[in-house]
Amino acid sequence: MAVKTVLRMGDARLWQVSAAVKNFATPELLQLLQDMRDTMQAMNGAGLAAPQIGVRQRVVIFGVQLNSRYPDAESVPETVLINPVITPLGTATDDAWEGCLSVPGLRGQVTRYSQIRYQGFDEQGALIDRTVSGFHARVVQHECDHLDGILYPMRITDMTQFGYTAELFPDRELQDE
Ligand code: NI
Repeated sequence: MAVKTVLRMGDARLWQVSAAVKNFATPELLQLLQDMRDTMQAMNGAGLAAPQIGVRQRVVIFGVQLNSRYPDAESVPETVLINPVITPLGTATDDAWEGCLSVPGLRGQVTRYSQIRYQGFDEQGALIDRTVSGFHARVVQHECDHLDGILYPMRITDMTQFGYTAELFPDRELQDE
């Protein structure tokens, strides 16, 4: 169990572009993924990108199980995604609230592609190739943005739709991302 400190917005390491993983199934990569899982679980997140724990590599994890605490959330399979490539399918977009473990306590409305294809590799180097939509597509776009040094507040176009979770949603408990 190794819960790492999640870097918060303002730490310059979050603005860096991460490097592609060259070797799969190495002890270092497997240890990184264990640390990421432990950290995401401890912070109750829906996803985590390696740069959020200070590792400048193109590795993200995500996954959401249906949970009575979050009746609105759609389930997303537990996924390790390395060196991802996202291809938008069509031009349709959705606006929805996002949060981030690197931006604790806040939520913002972000526009994302409604449907995407994503490709990449798991930790063993096996190909992943999925076409997804809705919340699943949003989570992938959010996590992969971290690999290019982009945090969701940089994508907010209407700053009145950005604020503290407790003020925006006084009646709801929301999961961090
Ligand atoms: Ni995030």
